[in-house]
Amino acid sequence: MTKTPVGIAATLGDYYIFVMWIGNLMIPGRAVLAPMAGVTDIVFRRLCRRFGAAIVYSEFLSTDGLVFNTMSQEHKLALADDEHPVAYQLFGSRVETFAAAARQLADFNPDMIDLNFGCPVKKVVGKNGGAAILKDLDLMARIVREACGAVPLPVTVKMRAGWDHDHLVYQEAALAAVAEGAKAVTLHARTRIDGYETAARWAYIADLKSALKVPVIGNGDVETPEDACAMLEQTGCDAVMVGRGALGRPWIFAQINHYLETGDLLPEPALPDRICVAWRHLCDKLADSKNDPGVVRLMRKQMAAYVKGWPDGHALKAQLMSAIDPPQIREAFADYLSGHADLPTADGDGWISEYIDLDRDWLPRATVMDGSR
Ligand SMILES: Cc1cc2nc3c(=O)[nH]c(=O)nc-3n(C[C@H](O)[C@H](O)[C@H](O)COP(=O)(O)O)c2cc1C
Repeated sequence: MTKTPVGIAATLGDYYIFVMWIGNLMIPGRAVLAPMAGVTDIVFRRLCRRFGAAIVYSEFLSTDGLVFNTMSQEHKLALADDEHPVAYQLFGSRVETFAAAARQLADFNPDMIDLNFGCPVKKVVGKNGGAAILKDLDLMARIVREACGAVPLPVTVKMRAGWDHDHLVYQEAALAAVAEGAKAVTLHARTRIDGYETAARWAYIADLKSALKVPVIGNGDVETPEDACAMLEQTGCDAVMVGRGALGRPWIFAQINHYLETGDLLPEPALPDRICVAWRHLCDKLADSKNDPGVVRLMRKQMAAYVKGWPDGHALKAQLMSAIDPPQIREAFADYLSGHADLPTADGDGWISEYIDLDRDWLPRATVMDGSR
Protein backbone atom coordinates (compact mmCIF):
# COMPACT_ATOMS: atom_id res chain seq x y z
CA MET A 1 0.00 0.00 0.00
CA THR A 2 1.36 3.43 -0.83
CA LYS A 3 0.96 6.03 1.86
CA THR A 4 1.19 9.19 -0.16
CA PRO A 5 -0.53 11.92 1.80
CA VAL A 6 -3.20 13.77 -0.09
CA GLY A 7 -3.85 16.29 2.64
CA ILE A 8 -1.02 17.71 4.72
CA ALA A 9 0.76 15.04 6.72
CA ALA A 10 1.66 15.87 10.29
CA THR A 11 3.45 13.65 12.75
CA LEU A 12 1.96 12.74 16.07
CA GLY A 13 4.29 10.48 18.00
CA ASP A 14 5.08 7.59 15.67
CA TYR A 15 2.02 8.08 13.53
CA TYR A 16 1.27 10.10 10.48
CA ILE A 17 -2.03 11.81 10.65
CA PHE A 18 -3.56 13.28 7.56
CA VAL A 19 -4.95 16.71 7.93
CA MET A 20 -7.43 18.48 5.75
CA TRP A 21 -8.67 22.00 6.23
CA ILE A 22 -12.33 22.75 5.74
CA GLY A 23 -12.26 26.51 5.85
CA ASN A 24 -10.48 27.26 9.11
CA LEU A 25 -11.35 23.89 10.59
CA MET A 26 -8.54 21.38 10.83
CA ILE A 27 -9.65 17.79 10.38
CA PRO A 28 -7.15 15.11 11.37
CA GLY A 29 -8.19 11.86 9.77
CA ARG A 30 -9.54 10.64 6.49
CA ALA A 31 -12.69 8.65 7.23
CA VAL A 32 -15.92 10.47 8.09
CA LEU A 33 -19.36 9.21 9.08
CA ALA A 34 -22.08 9.86 6.47
CA PRO A 35 -25.30 11.60 7.42
CA MET A 36 -27.98 8.90 7.70
CA ALA A 37 -31.59 9.61 8.57
CA GLY A 38 -32.78 7.42 11.43
CA VAL A 39 -29.21 6.43 12.27
CA THR A 40 -26.77 9.28 12.90
CA ASP A 41 -28.32 10.66 16.05
CA ILE A 42 -26.18 11.98 18.89
CA VAL A 43 -25.65 8.48 20.29
CA PHE A 44 -24.37 6.89 17.10
CA ARG A 45 -22.30 9.95 16.25
CA ARG A 46 -20.54 9.80 19.62
CA LEU A 47 -19.93 6.08 19.23
CA CYS A 48 -18.36 6.60 15.80
CA ARG A 49 -16.26 9.49 17.08
CA ARG A 50 -14.88 7.27 19.82
CA PHE A 51 -13.82 4.83 17.13
CA GLY A 52 -12.08 7.61 15.26
CA ALA A 53 -14.51 9.03 12.68
CA ALA A 54 -12.87 12.28 11.60
CA ILE A 55 -16.18 14.16 11.21
CA VAL A 56 -19.71 13.09 12.06
CA TYR A 57 -22.86 14.42 10.38
CA SER A 58 -26.35 14.74 11.77
CA GLU A 59 -29.32 13.18 10.05
CA PHE A 60 -30.66 15.61 7.47
CA LEU A 61 -32.81 18.30 9.02
CA SER A 62 -35.64 20.02 7.22
CA THR A 63 -35.06 23.75 6.77
CA ASP A 64 -38.82 24.31 6.69
CA GLY A 65 -39.24 22.15 9.79
CA LEU A 66 -36.68 24.23 11.65
CA VAL A 67 -37.88 27.61 10.51
CA PHE A 68 -41.61 26.94 10.92
CA ASN A 69 -41.03 24.96 14.07
CA THR A 70 -42.73 21.83 12.80
CA MET A 71 -39.78 19.49 13.06
CA SER A 72 -40.48 16.18 14.73
CA GLN A 73 -39.23 15.87 18.30
CA GLU A 74 -37.14 12.88 17.29
CA HIS A 75 -34.57 15.30 16.01
CA LYS A 76 -32.94 16.60 19.09
CA LEU A 77 -30.54 19.31 18.17
CA ALA A 78 -28.24 19.32 21.16
CA LEU A 79 -24.66 18.31 20.49
CA ALA A 80 -22.31 16.62 22.93
CA ASP A 81 -18.88 17.97 23.84
CA ASP A 82 -17.17 14.78 22.74
CA GLU A 83 -18.63 14.56 19.25
CA HIS A 84 -16.86 17.48 17.60
CA PRO A 85 -16.09 18.01 14.77
CA VAL A 86 -19.74 17.62 13.91
CA ALA A 87 -21.83 18.95 11.05
CA TYR A 88 -25.56 19.54 10.92
CA GLN A 89 -26.99 18.71 7.55
CA LEU A 90 -29.86 20.71 6.06
CA PHE A 91 -32.27 19.90 3.26
CA GLY A 92 -35.00 21.96 1.67
CA SER A 93 -35.63 23.92 -1.49
CA ARG A 94 -36.11 27.53 -0.46
CA VAL A 95 -33.21 29.92 -0.29
CA GLU A 96 -34.58 31.91 2.68
CA THR A 97 -35.24 28.89 4.84
CA PHE A 98 -31.72 27.53 4.31
CA ALA A 99 -30.22 30.78 5.57
CA ALA A 100 -32.61 31.07 8.52
CA ALA A 101 -32.21 27.41 9.48
CA ALA A 102 -28.41 27.66 9.28
CA ARG A 103 -28.53 30.66 11.63
CA GLN A 104 -30.75 28.75 14.03
CA LEU A 105 -28.41 25.76 14.07
CA ALA A 106 -25.31 27.89 14.56
CA ASP A 107 -26.58 28.58 18.09
CA PHE A 108 -25.89 24.94 18.97
CA ASN A 109 -22.20 25.36 18.09
CA PRO A 110 -21.69 22.80 15.34
CA ASP A 111 -18.39 22.90 13.48
CA MET A 112 -19.93 22.98 10.01
CA ILE A 113 -23.22 23.21 8.18
CA ASP A 114 -23.66 20.77 5.31
CA LEU A 115 -26.23 21.26 2.55
CA ASN A 116 -27.95 18.24 1.04
CA PHE A 117 -28.16 18.14 -2.75
CA GLY A 118 -28.36 14.40 -3.05
CA CYS A 119 -31.35 12.90 -1.26
CA PRO A 120 -33.23 10.69 -3.76
CA VAL A 121 -36.41 9.95 -1.81
CA LYS A 122 -39.70 10.95 -3.42
CA LYS A 123 -40.94 12.87 -0.41
CA VAL A 124 -37.91 15.18 -0.67
CA VAL A 125 -37.36 15.48 -4.44
CA GLY A 126 -41.13 15.85 -4.87
CA LYS A 127 -40.78 19.18 -3.06
CA ASN A 128 -37.75 20.14 -5.16
CA GLY A 129 -35.28 19.35 -2.40
CA GLY A 130 -32.29 16.98 -2.21
CA ALA A 131 -31.12 15.72 -5.60
CA ALA A 132 -33.84 17.72 -7.39
CA ILE A 133 -31.78 20.86 -6.74
CA LEU A 134 -29.20 19.48 -9.17
CA LYS A 135 -31.74 20.26 -11.89
CA ASP A 136 -31.55 23.96 -11.07
CA LEU A 137 -27.98 25.03 -10.46
CA ASP A 138 -28.91 28.71 -10.17
CA LEU A 139 -31.11 27.84 -7.24
CA MET A 140 -28.34 25.70 -5.79
CA ALA A 141 -25.84 28.54 -6.10
CA ARG A 142 -28.20 30.98 -4.38
CA ILE A 143 -28.81 28.53 -1.55
CA VAL A 144 -25.07 28.10 -1.00
CA ARG A 145 -24.44 31.85 -1.17
CA GLU A 146 -27.16 32.68 1.35
CA ALA A 147 -26.21 29.89 3.73
CA CYS A 148 -22.54 30.89 3.60
CA GLY A 149 -23.46 34.49 4.28
CA ALA A 150 -25.74 33.54 7.16
CA VAL A 151 -23.23 31.83 9.47
CA PRO A 152 -19.61 32.28 10.47
CA LEU A 153 -19.00 28.56 10.04
CA PRO A 154 -17.68 26.54 7.14
CA VAL A 155 -20.58 25.54 4.88
CA THR A 156 -20.11 22.38 2.83
CA VAL A 157 -22.23 20.55 0.29
CA LYS A 158 -23.00 16.89 -0.29
CA MET A 159 -24.28 16.02 -3.71
CA ARG A 160 -24.97 13.19 -6.07
CA ALA A 161 -23.37 13.23 -9.52
CA GLY A 162 -26.55 14.43 -11.20
CA TRP A 163 -30.19 13.56 -11.67
CA ASP A 164 -29.37 10.82 -14.18
CA HIS A 165 -26.51 9.81 -16.41
CA ASP A 166 -27.62 12.18 -19.16
CA HIS A 167 -27.30 15.04 -16.71
CA LEU A 168 -24.01 14.64 -14.90
CA VAL A 169 -23.64 18.06 -13.33
CA TYR A 170 -21.34 17.36 -10.41
CA GLN A 171 -18.45 19.33 -11.76
CA GLU A 172 -20.45 22.39 -12.72
CA ALA A 173 -22.44 22.19 -9.51
CA ALA A 174 -19.40 21.82 -7.28
CA LEU A 175 -17.52 24.66 -8.96
CA ALA A 176 -20.57 26.90 -8.55
CA ALA A 177 -20.92 25.90 -4.89
CA VAL A 178 -17.27 26.64 -4.20
CA ALA A 179 -17.52 29.97 -6.02
CA GLU A 180 -20.38 30.86 -3.66
CA GLY A 181 -18.33 29.95 -0.60
CA ALA A 182 -18.64 26.19 0.02
CA LYS A 183 -15.52 24.98 1.81
CA ALA A 184 -15.67 21.29 0.88
CA VAL A 185 -17.69 19.04 -1.40
CA THR A 186 -18.77 15.49 -0.72
CA LEU A 187 -19.62 13.56 -3.86
CA HIS A 188 -21.83 10.51 -3.56
CA ALA A 189 -20.77 8.97 -6.83
CA ARG A 190 -24.21 7.93 -8.01
CA THR A 191 -27.03 9.76 -9.74
CA ARG A 192 -30.51 10.15 -8.34
CA ILE A 193 -31.91 7.40 -10.55
CA ASP A 194 -29.18 5.01 -9.37
CA GLY A 195 -30.67 5.03 -5.87
CA TYR A 196 -28.32 3.01 -3.70
CA GLU A 197 -28.01 -0.19 -5.66
CA THR A 198 -25.73 0.26 -8.64
CA ALA A 199 -22.01 0.44 -7.96
CA ALA A 200 -20.74 3.92 -7.14
CA ARG A 201 -18.61 5.35 -9.95
CA TRP A 202 -15.46 6.50 -8.24
CA ALA A 203 -14.16 7.95 -11.52
CA TYR A 204 -16.54 10.87 -10.91
CA ILE A 205 -14.76 11.55 -7.62
CA ALA A 206 -11.35 11.52 -9.31
CA ASP A 207 -12.69 13.86 -11.95
CA LEU A 208 -14.04 16.27 -9.34
CA LYS A 209 -10.87 16.19 -7.27
CA SER A 210 -8.87 17.33 -10.26
CA ALA A 211 -11.23 20.28 -10.74
CA LEU A 212 -11.52 21.60 -7.16
CA LYS A 213 -9.15 23.37 -4.81
CA VAL A 214 -11.25 22.72 -1.69
CA PRO A 215 -11.29 19.25 -0.09
CA VAL A 216 -13.27 16.58 -1.86
CA ILE A 217 -14.79 13.84 0.26
CA GLY A 218 -15.53 10.69 -1.72
CA ASN A 219 -18.63 8.67 -0.94
CA GLY A 220 -20.13 5.42 -2.15
CA ASP A 221 -19.42 1.76 -1.43
CA VAL A 222 -16.67 2.08 1.16
CA GLU A 223 -17.33 -1.00 3.27
CA THR A 224 -13.84 -2.04 4.36
CA PRO A 225 -10.44 -0.52 5.15
CA GLU A 226 -9.20 -1.78 1.78
CA ASP A 227 -12.08 0.02 0.04
CA ALA A 228 -11.19 3.23 1.86
CA CYS A 229 -7.57 2.94 0.81
CA ALA A 230 -8.55 2.11 -2.77
CA MET A 231 -10.88 5.10 -3.01
CA LEU A 232 -8.20 7.45 -1.66
CA GLU A 233 -5.63 6.07 -4.04
CA GLN A 234 -7.81 5.80 -7.12
CA THR A 235 -9.48 9.17 -6.82
CA GLY A 236 -7.02 11.34 -4.89
CA CYS A 237 -9.90 12.48 -2.69
CA ASP A 238 -9.03 14.02 0.68
CA ALA A 239 -11.25 11.81 2.80
CA VAL A 240 -13.78 9.01 2.43
CA MET A 241 -17.30 9.10 3.79
CA VAL A 242 -18.71 5.84 5.11
CA GLY A 243 -22.46 5.25 5.21
CA ARG A 244 -23.86 1.73 5.19
CA GLY A 245 -20.46 0.29 6.01
CA ALA A 246 -20.81 1.80 9.48
CA LEU A 247 -24.29 0.37 10.16
CA GLY A 248 -23.84 -2.12 12.98
CA ARG A 249 -20.08 -1.58 12.62
CA PRO A 250 -19.12 1.74 14.22
CA TRP A 251 -15.63 0.32 14.79
CA ILE A 252 -14.96 0.49 11.04
CA PHE A 253 -13.36 3.91 11.56
CA ALA A 254 -10.73 2.42 13.85
CA GLN A 255 -10.10 -0.30 11.28
CA ILE A 256 -9.74 2.20 8.43
CA ASN A 257 -7.48 4.52 10.42
CA HIS A 258 -5.30 1.64 11.53
CA TYR A 259 -4.97 0.35 7.99
CA LEU A 260 -4.12 3.76 6.58
CA GLU A 261 -1.57 4.35 9.32
CA THR A 262 0.13 0.95 9.38
CA GLY A 263 -0.94 -1.05 6.33
CA ASP A 264 -2.14 -3.80 8.70
CA LEU A 265 -5.70 -4.97 9.08
CA LEU A 266 -7.26 -5.04 12.52
CA PRO A 267 -9.29 -8.25 12.86
CA GLU A 268 -13.06 -8.22 12.91
CA PRO A 269 -14.10 -7.95 16.56
CA ALA A 270 -15.15 -11.12 18.34
CA LEU A 271 -18.91 -11.75 18.41
CA PRO A 272 -19.23 -11.11 22.16
CA ASP A 273 -17.48 -7.79 21.71
CA ARG A 274 -19.78 -6.85 18.85
CA ILE A 275 -22.73 -7.71 21.04
CA CYS A 276 -21.34 -5.56 23.83
CA VAL A 277 -20.98 -2.60 21.46
CA ALA A 278 -24.57 -3.10 20.29
CA TRP A 279 -25.75 -3.29 23.88
CA ARG A 280 -23.85 -0.18 24.80
CA HIS A 281 -25.34 1.59 21.78
CA LEU A 282 -28.82 0.67 23.01
CA CYS A 283 -28.08 1.64 26.63
CA ASP A 284 -26.71 5.01 25.53
CA LYS A 285 -29.82 5.58 23.44
CA LEU A 286 -32.02 4.70 26.41
CA ALA A 287 -30.09 7.07 28.63
CA ASP A 288 -30.38 9.80 26.01
CA SER A 289 -34.14 9.31 25.88
CA LYS A 290 -34.55 9.22 29.68
CA ASN A 291 -35.25 5.50 29.59
CA ASP A 292 -38.16 5.64 27.20
CA PRO A 293 -38.67 1.93 26.35
CA GLY A 294 -40.21 3.06 23.05
CA VAL A 295 -36.72 3.61 21.69
CA VAL A 296 -36.27 -0.15 21.47
CA ARG A 297 -38.61 -0.19 18.47
CA LEU A 298 -36.64 2.63 16.85
CA MET A 299 -33.42 0.73 17.45
CA ARG A 300 -34.52 -2.64 16.08
CA LYS A 301 -32.99 -2.23 12.64
CA GLN A 302 -29.76 -0.95 14.08
CA MET A 303 -29.54 -3.85 16.53
CA ALA A 304 -30.17 -6.25 13.64
CA ALA A 305 -27.40 -4.56 11.64
CA TYR A 306 -24.88 -5.67 14.27
CA VAL A 307 -25.66 -9.33 13.58
CA LYS A 308 -25.75 -9.17 9.79
CA GLY A 309 -24.09 -12.23 8.27
CA TRP A 310 -23.67 -14.14 11.53
CA PRO A 311 -23.85 -17.95 11.39
CA ASP A 312 -27.51 -18.98 11.97
CA GLY A 313 -28.23 -15.32 12.54
CA HIS A 314 -31.76 -15.38 11.09
CA ALA A 315 -33.51 -16.38 14.30
CA LEU A 316 -31.53 -13.80 16.27
CA LYS A 317 -32.38 -11.11 13.77
CA ALA A 318 -36.08 -12.05 13.98
CA GLN A 319 -35.92 -11.81 17.78
CA LEU A 320 -34.25 -8.41 17.63
CA MET A 321 -36.72 -7.13 15.07
CA SER A 322 -39.67 -8.00 17.31
CA ALA A 323 -38.20 -6.93 20.66
CA ILE A 324 -40.23 -4.42 22.61
CA ASP A 325 -38.02 -3.80 25.62
CA PRO A 326 -34.31 -3.85 26.54
CA PRO A 327 -34.40 -7.18 28.43
CA GLN A 328 -35.69 -8.89 25.27
CA ILE A 329 -32.74 -7.55 23.29
CA ARG A 330 -30.31 -8.68 25.94
CA GLU A 331 -31.91 -12.09 26.21
CA ALA A 332 -31.76 -12.53 22.43
CA PHE A 333 -28.03 -11.81 22.41
CA ALA A 334 -27.29 -13.97 25.45
CA ASP A 335 -29.34 -16.88 24.04
CA TYR A 336 -27.50 -16.67 20.76
CA LEU A 337 -24.13 -16.80 22.45
CA SER A 338 -25.19 -19.68 24.73
CA GLY A 339 -26.34 -21.64 21.70
CA HIS A 340 -23.15 -20.90 19.82
CA ALA A 341 -20.46 -21.42 22.41
CA ASP A 342 -18.63 -23.47 19.78
CA LEU A 343 -18.27 -20.50 17.44
CA PRO A 344 -14.81 -19.08 17.14
CA THR A 345 -15.10 -15.97 19.26
CA ALA A 346 -11.48 -14.97 19.19
CA ASP A 347 -11.51 -13.40 15.76
CA GLY A 348 -10.68 -10.14 17.46
CA ASP A 349 -8.06 -9.77 20.16
CA GLY A 350 -9.85 -7.37 22.43
CA TRP A 351 -8.80 -4.25 20.54
CA ILE A 352 -12.33 -2.87 20.71
CA SER A 353 -11.93 -2.17 24.42
CA GLU A 354 -9.05 0.18 23.64
CA TYR A 355 -11.71 2.51 22.26
CA ILE A 356 -14.70 2.05 24.52
CA ASP A 357 -15.51 0.45 27.84
CA LEU A 358 -17.52 -2.72 27.39
CA ASP A 359 -19.78 -4.32 29.95
CA ARG A 360 -19.17 -8.05 29.46
CA ASP A 361 -20.47 -9.22 32.82
CA TRP A 362 -23.88 -10.24 31.54
CA LEU A 363 -22.60 -12.44 28.72
CA PRO A 364 -22.57 -16.24 29.06
CA ARG A 365 -19.17 -17.05 30.60
CA ALA A 366 -18.17 -19.63 27.99
CA THR A 367 -18.18 -17.04 25.26
CA VAL A 368 -16.10 -14.39 26.96
CA MET A 369 -12.40 -14.56 26.54
CA ASP A 370 -10.26 -13.58 29.46
CA GLY A 371 -6.57 -12.72 29.47
CA SER A 372 -6.14 -9.77 27.18
CA ARG A 373 -9.66 -8.77 28.06
C1 LIG B 1 -30.48 4.76 6.10
C2 LIG B 1 -29.82 5.85 5.28
C3 LIG B 1 -30.15 7.17 5.53
C4 LIG B 1 -29.53 8.19 4.81
N1 LIG B 1 -29.81 9.49 5.12
C5 LIG B 1 -29.10 10.49 4.51
C6 LIG B 1 -29.24 11.83 4.92
O1 LIG B 1 -29.98 12.16 5.87
N2 LIG B 1 -28.50 12.78 4.26
C7 LIG B 1 -27.65 12.46 3.23
O2 LIG B 1 -26.99 13.34 2.67
N3 LIG B 1 -27.51 11.18 2.84
C8 LIG B 1 -28.19 10.20 3.45
N4 LIG B 1 -27.98 8.90 3.09
C9 LIG B 1 -26.96 8.60 2.07
C10 LIG B 1 -25.59 8.36 2.73
O3 LIG B 1 -25.14 9.51 3.40
C11 LIG B 1 -24.56 7.96 1.66
O4 LIG B 1 -24.44 9.01 0.75
C12 LIG B 1 -24.97 6.70 0.90
O5 LIG B 1 -25.43 5.70 1.78
C13 LIG B 1 -23.80 6.17 0.07
O6 LIG B 1 -22.73 5.81 0.90
P1 LIG B 1 -22.42 4.26 1.28
O7 LIG B 1 -22.29 3.52 -0.03
O8 LIG B 1 -21.17 4.35 2.09
O9 LIG B 1 -23.61 3.78 2.05
C14 LIG B 1 -28.60 7.88 3.78
C15 LIG B 1 -28.31 6.53 3.53
C16 LIG B 1 -28.89 5.53 4.25
C17 LIG B 1 -28.52 4.11 3.96
